[in-house]
Amino acid sequence: MTVKPVRKAVFPVAGLGTRLLPATKTMPKEMLTIVDRPLIQYAVDEAREAGIEQLIFVTGRGKGSLVDYFDMSFELEATMEKAGKSLDALQSSRTDYGEIVAVRQQRPLGLGHAVWCARHVVGDEPFAVLLPDDLMVPGALKQMVAAYNEVGGNIVCAAEVPRDKTASYGIVTPGARDGNRTEVKGLVEKPKPELAPSTLAVIGRYILQPEVMGVLDAQEPGAGGEIQLTDAMARLIGRQPFHAVTVDAVRYDCGTKLGFVTANLALGLADAEIGADLRNYASSSMSQ
Ligand code: UTP
Repeated sequence: MTVKPVRKAVFPVAGLGTRLLPATKTMPKEMLTIVDRPLIQYAVDEAREAGIEQLIFVTGRGKGSLVDYFDMSFELEATMEKAGKSLDALQSSRTDYGEIVAVRQQRPLGLGHAVWCARHVVGDEPFAVLLPDDLMVPGALKQMVAAYNEVGGNIVCAAEVPRDKTASYGIVTPGARDGNRTEVKGLVEKPKPELAPSTLAVIGRYILQPEVMGVLDAQEPGAGGEIQLTDAMARLIGRQPFHAVTVDAVRYDCGTKLGFVTANLALGLADAEIGADLRNYASSSMSQ
């Protein structure tokens, strides 16, 4: 089976991040730092590792720093070079000419609407969507692309969640299972635990066919008054192959205070430079 390669990735970064106020009052949630780099850097690195060539940011007002971050910082680099300082730490935040395209979502009408705002840049190609506040360690997209290359169509990243948490996720109605792939028979946005068709939840990585944009064209607001990506994806089930892939990665929901602090702790403890000292500090403060 030949499938069109996934070359483009959409990063919806226009949300308000109200669960992390006041930190996100003037700073985009996706610029919050885990150890030494912003969330958006992890997502971009994950996309590049999966072979993505074009990065499409869906931004909004007050989110300019996300695009600036990947630009060349001429004054900074010139000053550091003059002072004989290494520029190594800036390496991964560099992008090639034209690698990043930014489009605007003028009002935060939901994730489905944010993805739709990228339709002219996506064109007639399959594309990935990465939500940077879902930090995946190691990156999930490469594993999803491997599954996509076998079965094509649409792929969502999925993970089992406790039944009392189903109302926070899109939930899969599962079909046949094959290794880490589950056929998707249906998708329900944020069902109450007693109504959830399973506990297999969609998490922030997707590979979608361009036809989803046509569905989003006509989409009315769903749960929470937002234009839901889940509802649009659900319309493709039965028309195109649709699978959920469980990946070998730990997910940190950095859109919540607990997930954000946990990610900093976990990645800090694993960090070659500071891990040992942090472990000493954590164990001595816990024994007090
Ligand atoms: P969330 O569901 O976490 O929403 O969005 P949010 O507005 O950012 O945060 P809270 O709920 O107010 O705390 C998941 C991803 O989708 C983007 C966000 O920027 C985030 O990366 N998003 C969400 C948009 O780009 N536009 C939207 O209208 C909604």
